[in-house]
Amino acid sequence: DTPALVDTFGRVATDLRVSLTDKCNLRCTYCMPEEGLDWMPDDQVLADDELLRLMRIAVERLGITDIRLTGGEPMLRPGLESLIAEITSLEPRPRVAMTTNGIGLAKRAPKLAAAGLNRINVSLDTVERDTFIRITRRDRLSHVLAGLAAARDAGMDPVKINAVLLPGVNEHEATGLLRFCLENGYHLRFIEQMPLDAQHSWDRSAMITAEQILELLRTEFTLTPSNEERGGAPAERWLVDGGPGDVGVIASVTRPFCAACDRTRLTADGAIRSCLFSQRETDLRAMLRNGGTDEDIANAWRATMWAKLAGHEINDAGFAQPLRPMSSIGG
Ligand code: GTP
Ligand code: 5AD
Ligand code: SF4
Repeated sequence: DTPALVDTFGRVATDLRVSLTDKCNLRCTYCMPEEGLDWMPDDQVLADDELLRLMRIAVERLGITDIRLTGGEPMLRPGLESLIAEITSLEPRPRVAMTTNGIGLAKRAPKLAAAGLNRINVSLDTVERDTFIRITRRDRLSHVLAGLAAARDAGMDPVKINAVLLPGVNEHEATGLLRFCLENGYHLRFIEQMPLDAQHSWDRSAMITAEQILELLRTEFTLTPSNEERGGAPAERWLVDGGPGDVGVIASVTRPFCAACDRTRLTADGAIRSCLFSQRETDLRAMLRNGGTDEDIANAWRATMWAKLAGHEINDAGFAQPLRPMSSIGG
């Protein structure tokens, strides 16, 4: 008798993305400035018990079946392994995934897997040390590579890699990244850059499009459309040289997939967003801290999702970037 998270377009959100912190230990140029950002004050960040209560409401009352932990960098959240163990003991048990930059994973992958983490997406834009430093402003490539191997060895399946291509920076590595992933059993997806950077410096004309990405890959590989069911997944997938290896492209800008969106988002400070690009959000932290009941919270969540727009408006003339940057929304 508890209606799921539906919107006026008939979409149903079953996938909850939870940002655990807005902090990060890298400084990717397309995400944030060298000096970092004004991080959220600790007292505004939801405590574990508050987060777990919201996730319990989402799973028990709102039909959420999948939870993805994001950041900033989610591994910077103290006690992450115990939090995952608690999430996987919710009923019905949600599938749990994480999107991370991979730093620290080399050591923590077995514990994360033991806590119940099912799968992992690692952000990696280059396998060249100099280029890695240029993009992330940190000399950590070897840590990320070791982290990827550790995740695979710990049994996380699939291990996905997210790569953003930047013109004149790592564009030349499209085929090299794919070769690296095919050789190591990682699933590569290229992402079109979206207007979500803290500096508001996204420039449509400087973005590498899905079409350009496919063109770069076709210089070395034969790509055929994968006929696997896409569902609400952001990536369009292609078999490489007949398979079984594949590659995905997340073309948020040039081939929006909003019509099939199945996502709802919770920020580290307790706000619900119906879309990455929402201009409005709903503060659940106040309700949590002022005696709101589970049903009050569930209703506020439902109302937020009901008001979800048809899609982002990146391609419209009047588009305005959301107030929060990517690192505080959770991607
Ligand atoms: P999978 O379940 O493994 O497919 O995860 P995912 O691709 O949804 O998650 P991930 O965190 O790895 O995100 C990869 C890229 O897709 C990031 O750039 C996200 O911002 C983007 N992405 C995820 N969900 C959405 C969405 O609802 N809309 C848009 N436009 N982009 C999204
Ligand atoms: N556009 C597209 N993808 C982005 N990411 C970070 N900022 C942007 C952006 N502006 C990617 C990260 C990570 C994923 C969660 O989102 O590289 O892989
Ligand atoms: Fe890079 Fe993600 Fe951190 Fe931004 S939040 S600096 S994209 S790792």
